[in-house]
Amino acid sequence: MGLLKSFFSQTRKPEGFLGKLMVGGMNGSGHAKLADWGMSHIGGIAPLAIAELGCGGGRNAAALMKRYPAAKLTALDYSALSVETTKKTNRNEIAAGRCSVVQASVEELPFAAVSFDLATAFETVYFWPGLEKCFAEVCRVLKPGGVFLICNESDGCDETGRRFEKIIDGMKCYTAHELASALKAAGFSEVKSDRHPSKPWLAVTARK
Ligand SMILES: C[S@@+](CC[C@H](N)C(=O)[O-])C[C@H]1O[C@@H](n2cnc3c(N)ncnc32)[C@H](O)[C@@H]1O
Repeated sequence: MGLLKSFFSQTRKPEGFLGKLMVGGMNGSGHAKLADWGMSHIGGIAPLAIAELGCGGGRNAAALMKRYPAAKLTALDYSALSVETTKKTNRNEIAAGRCSVVQASVEELPFAAVSFDLATAFETVYFWPGLEKCFAEVCRVLKPGGVFLICNESDGCDETGRRFEKIIDGMKCYTAHELASALKAAGFSEVKSDRHPSKPWLAVTARK
């Protein structure tokens, strides 16, 4: 595998030296702009319990806790390196009892049903195994009326997304329509999607 392919493949499950570089990049300003734009679509809710799924380096967990100061947040990722980095990024909130970080896959969320007001997934559903099954898991752990936000840099139609699908094994960039179909099949209603005016960014919100 070429170095470039090895490096970009780290986005799927960061590990080792290249993974450390990648997770550092995930916490950088490029991803932050996308995530903050995505968060602006959550709407006027006041969540007390948030699940941040596929949390990477934990920057978005920190931003969500700033945005919702009354909320407690659980961050989840199946990569040990992502979990470790998220713990470092949010060490003060963890010490204050506002944040916990767990290592698990979204296929089987280690949470009780009806636990969260808000679930978020930034730049991660590309890698989820069996979208509908994973979305059904998210639906299970949300409270009735709870919101699920998906935020992707690719709208499933852009050239860059297609290029990355070829480089990263198992990556799939979904269109808004594909995401909406999987969300509805998984039990969500009120699915809305928004596109950035000048970039192929996608923010999809769904309500349980
Ligand atoms: C491109 S990174 C995005 C990280 C972060 N959400 C962000 O926007 O900076 C994708 C993350 O999703 C995680 N991930 C992928 N598939 C997953 C799964 N099935 N369960 C849990 N985490 C997963 C990866 O380990 C990685 O940390």
